[in-house]
Amino acid sequence: MINLDEFPSFFVANWKLNSNISFIDDYIKNLQTNTENCLVICPPSIYLNLVKTNSKNLFLGSQDVSMYDEGAYTGEVSVNMLVDNKVNFSIVGHSERRSYFNETNEKVLLKTNKLIEKSIIPIVCIGETLEQKEKKITKEVLRKQIQECIPKNANFKNTLIAYEPIWAIGTGLTPSVEQIDEVHAFIKNHDNKFNNFKILYGGSVKSSNSEEINKSKNVNGCLVGGASLNVNEFNKILV
Ligand code: PGA
Repeated sequence: MINLDEFPSFFVANWKLNSNISFIDDYIKNLQTNTENCLVICPPSIYLNLVKTNSKNLFLGSQDVSMYDEGAYTGEVSVNMLVDNKVNFSIVGHSERRSYFNETNEKVLLKTNKLIEKSIIPIVCIGETLEQKEKKITKEVLRKQIQECIPKNANFKNTLIAYEPIWAIGTGLTPSVEQIDEVHAFIKNHDNKFNNFKILYGGSVKSSNSEEINKSKNVNGCLVGGASLNVNEFNKILV
């Protein structure tokens, strides 16, 4: 398994339902891997094999994993298939999966458990809606998501958490750096078990705000959607 402590920060490119073969060729040729940070590319699963990770800090991630191991589950990709394809990380519980594909905390828990058992690092996404933020119940929402999505065998060496406020995803809106740091500090300190967990921030990260966000004491990297689709923009975020 990857030793997460080797890297100062983590930058995860979540391509979602974007890219094609020529995009990938061009992207990998132009991606600047000369950084100490850990870079994780999460392409659509059909392209996992095309992203060549021939640099010591560049890894493959999937955008999801099945909660089933094998059998009659049309369209699914199992954890063993990810292992076969040398996938080291997997996003789980992304808000788009939760809202469009009925992914519940219970399912996220099952998936996270399977990934840990196979030494793939889950990147467990949590975050509040705008309504929850306005009602000032962000911390309660996050506490419940953490309790219900993160299994007992998870620890800071085998699991990453991504705080992604749903209202910030793809909207161009971001919390202030102070607000992000406060939420990350809450996640780390609400229970001693999480003190050393690495917490990534996601939601409208781009080159113009990534440096400031990533400088925060409790931020250990970023999960980047839209801005990761432009390799020149992503290169600026990685430094
Ligand atoms: P965004 O997406 O950077 O486009 O806001 C982040 C994510 O969905 O992980």
